[in-house]
Amino acid sequence: MKRDNFGSKFGLLAAAAGSAVGLGNIWKFPYITGKNGGAAFILVYLACILLIGLPVMISEFVLGRKTQVNAIAAFKQIKPNKPWYLAGILSVSTAFIILSFYSIIAGWVFSYIGRSAIGNLITVSPDNLSEYFGNITSSPIEPLFWTFLVLALTAFVVILGVKSGVEKYSKILMPLLFILIVILMFRSLTLDGASKGVAFLFKPDFSLLTTKGVLEALGHSFYSLSLGMGIILTYGSYIDKKVNIVSLAIQVTIADTVIALMAGLVIFPAVFAYGLEPTSGPALIFITLPAVFKAMPFGGVFETLFFLLVGIAAITSTISLLEVIVSFFTEKFNIGRKKCTILISLAVFALSIPSTLSFGIWSDIKIFHKNFFDLFDFIASNIFLPVGGILICIFVGWVWGSKNAIKEITSDGLYSFKVEKLYSFIIKFVAPISIGIILLYSTGIIKLN
Ligand code: PFF
Repeated sequence: MKRDNFGSKFGLLAAAAGSAVGLGNIWKFPYITGKNGGAAFILVYLACILLIGLPVMISEFVLGRKTQVNAIAAFKQIKPNKPWYLAGILSVSTAFIILSFYSIIAGWVFSYIGRSAIGNLITVSPDNLSEYFGNITSSPIEPLFWTFLVLALTAFVVILGVKSGVEKYSKILMPLLFILIVILMFRSLTLDGASKGVAFLFKPDFSLLTTKGVLEALGHSFYSLSLGMGIILTYGSYIDKKVNIVSLAIQVTIADTVIALMAGLVIFPAVFAYGLEPTSGPALIFITLPAVFKAMPFGGVFETLFFLLVGIAAITSTISLLEVIVSFFTEKFNIGRKKCTILISLAVFALSIPSTLSFGIWSDIKIFHKNFFDLFDFIASNIFLPVGGILICIFVGWVWGSKNAIKEITSDGLYSFKVEKLYSFIIKFVAPISIGIILLYSTGIIKLN
């Protein structure tokens, strides 16, 4: 079967940045920054991105490009007779599980897009927003409809293929996302009292920065860049030799970080301007922000634009998660892309059902003290993701060998790479050890207060 490739540099950048920019940027990054000391946390986060995120991203890209196959076959190709392909299986499984619950949250966002577009959300009084949101998430049917819609839209793009689907839609959606975020940021920053929100985000308070915050920064940098689960590896497999991987990875990283900072500048200046508390978790965008929009002139319009922004960010990420799985199954079993994508999406949807119901009628069903949603999130984000990250570093650094990786990074000598030694040191030692510490922390083996 002939493999598809990305057709243009911008398309490739848009797709990879589309994967990286997601719910993690717009909703998680701003509030973990706020609670961990603002600019102090941002500095640590930038260091994590630069020292660990970027080298790992480069490694995933080159492993994919070298092998030109899916995330499982890539390990097999480099190390045929050893069980390294299990690392690939782990990646694909992580993508599968994450997609099942990520689509639920994306589904809530889509329900909010619909409700704000028809002018319903804006009519809800701030006191009732919490109940309003709870009614949506706890309903046994409605969230399933929205999750299905998210998966259907994702599948629609993935079925069309890498160039005519993933690339084409990323090239449309990412510029649109950027325009929306600029409009909203401008609106937010020009409100009276916006400066308090800017201070919340950017004024360094080192006293709020804890060891836990540093680990959170590192963990989030991984999550935000879509690392450790074969996404970047799979996208790398659709890139040709002429592409300068280092500059591509730098551009993706910058785009991801800039959008995260801009999201903070959309959310907090508005929240503070209207005298609200910067809440954390889902409450921030689903309960607090609608109260902000309600108080704002033409709030209904900005509200629709905001949820559209979040929806676009989520969809370009779900596309990349689905692509990892589809790429493996089509190549392994030689099934057509369309049939394969539909079957996988249905399987993901089936897995999302218990998680959805855990916000309502199944909220009392607990396994290891966690409902289904939290359990899947814990397994995928706190265990599989860091383990996958460590395995990729060890594989590239030690098994394939950083020398071979560097050869691929330079496109066999076409581009220069001045930090070879530093890169080797990071990928062999710094990155796997740091991610190992995250794993110990995220699984609760080491506890910090
Ligand atoms: N990087 C995206 C985000 O920050 O939301 C999407 C994502 C992909 C999240 C893969 C997590 C993940 F494992």
